[in-house]
Amino acid sequence: MADLLSQLEALATGARAAIAAAPDEKGLEELRVRFLGKKGELSQVLRGMGQLPAGERPRVGEVANRVRDEVEGLLADGKRRLETKALEAELAGAPIDVTLAGRRLLPRGHRHPITRATEDISAIFARLGYEVASGPEIELDWFNFEALNLPPDHPARDMQDTFYVEESTLRAGVKPGSVLLRTHTSPVQVRSMKRLGKAPVRIICPGRVYRSDYDQTHSPMFHQVEGLCVDEGITFADLKGTLAAFARAYFGPGTRTRFRPSYFPFTEPSAEVDVSCTICGGTGRKDGKRCGTCKETGWLEVLGAGMVHPRVLENGGIDSKRHTGFAFGMGVERMAMLRYGIDDLRLYFENDLRFLSQF
Ligand code: PHE
Repeated sequence: MADLLSQLEALATGARAAIAAAPDEKGLEELRVRFLGKKGELSQVLRGMGQLPAGERPRVGEVANRVRDEVEGLLADGKRRLETKALEAELAGAPIDVTLAGRRLLPRGHRHPITRATEDISAIFARLGYEVASGPEIELDWFNFEALNLPPDHPARDMQDTFYVEESTLRAGVKPGSVLLRTHTSPVQVRSMKRLGKAPVRIICPGRVYRSDYDQTHSPMFHQVEGLCVDEGITFADLKGTLAAFARAYFGPGTRTRFRPSYFPFTEPSAEVDVSCTICGGTGRKDGKRCGTCKETGWLEVLGAGMVHPRVLENGGIDSKRHTGFAFGMGVERMAMLRYGIDDLRLYFENDLRFLSQF
């Protein structure tokens, strides 16, 4: 028995030294096989137990168990120690720069010129204190025409201009011919006044509008930005100052504006507003030749405007004896064409990257 006990003692001593010296996890695994494996040193010692008298076996078994537990514990500690060492070595080594810029596999996209123009226009009016409003593109005749003083026989309602929603698709009880794709953003004037319920009203409304038209300068769907300012004491001078400031901000500081008398049923008086030509600077001549953009006039028509008709104010629930206001509407495609020198409106909607990537 003493023989077996001293063999177990020697095994434990050998294991302690070998495990402490193991260089890596692979070395540790080899030691586990060598000491504790099926054909390992411990198994071999235990095989000698068969020759012992039965009374001595429990004592040897007890020591053998203790030695096995100790070696298992040493192996586990050794594994943890080596893992920590490996991690520390990694941390002390050359760092990985996780901030390195990625490789660009696809070119970055950008906003469509119409989106960009809409945002630029909105940003200028936001600085002047205007809030962005919106309304439905499928609109009631009342908001699009009637509330804006366009009576039922007005030529603007003609089937050639307006897309009406077909009778069969209307909900029961809706009068045929009373639902349409809005032909301008002006219905948002009355909607906004009704929504706010009181002055002051200072809104702009960018959005899509629809007319039955298609050629080099007209598309059945296009974009407008509507503006409306209602308060006490608003005059035509406020309208002129606001639009002059806008034109300088959008087309450049030297831009001049000109107001010509015009007619809209929902404004009185009404005006067409021109800006000095963005291509020839208002001279009518470019590189010694006639400027084609302004047709040598030096002026470009950019928007319609006027003082809000009292009846429109009343339709919006605003007291027209106390309040006055101005409104204006501009075509976004046209604004962008003049700013970027685009000569065919259809280019906006063809999605040709050779065109779009220039912006
Ligand atoms: N809604 C008019 C159009 O589409 C433009 C306009 C807006 C004119 C507001 C006056 C006031 O032509």
